Amino acid sequence: MQAPGPAQQALAPGAVLLRGFARKTDVLTALAPLLAAAPLRHLVTPGGHTMSVAMSNCGALGWVSDRRGYRYSKDDPLSGRPWPAMPAGWRDLAASAAAEAGFDGFRPDACLINQYLPGSKLSLHQDRDESDFSAPIVSVSLGLPAVFLFGTTQRADRPQRYRLLHGDVVVWGGPARLAYHGVAPLADGEHPLLGRRRINLTFRQAG
Ligand code: SIN
Ligand code: FE2
Repeated sequence: MQAPGPAQQALAPGAVLLRGFARKTDVLTALAPLLAAAPLRHLVTPGGHTMSVAMSNCGALGWVSDRRGYRYSKDDPLSGRPWPAMPAGWRDLAASAAAEAGFDGFRPDACLINQYLPGSKLSLHQDRDESDFSAPIVSVSLGLPAVFLFGTTQRADRPQRYRLLHGDVVVWGGPARLAYHGVAPLADGEHPLLGRRRINLTFRQAG
């Protein structure tokens, strides 16, 4: 019999992978109504490239991109209305994951919802559109497994690769807050709860 892996894996100083941390929370029930209110869409980067990941948001602020740049916005540009509220259960999950990783008092005001279909990827980037880097980023993986790339604060450093499964949570903050990260092209598969896709939630203190 294989011994269970450690529940916490340090990726770097300030960065922790919490295996299965979200499994005890019902995250999925809230998802469909949120995406009905603010549908997934493929954003365009300032450089004019259409992203392969489809995105939406919930919370007081949402991350958006267009030819004018990346930024947080109070309103969904598709509807002109505020983003749907962040479910309390999602906020609490993010705060408890942050606390588990050593970041007390995390109060996310933005949750970016990413959908990856087979082949979708996210290029290496830093999360740097938030106003205050003292709060961590909390990332919840759902559905199909993905290869998460996690590097250092130097773009030229080759990132490490981690396989993220349904329910895994990664928290990065402190010295890792501006680490480069991304997602390798999603392999095809079928997840019992989410089908042929991966959903990632990233919680931020943006405002
Ligand atoms: C992100 O960097 O915003 C998403 C990371 C992920 O999908 O795991
Ligand atoms: Fe990111």
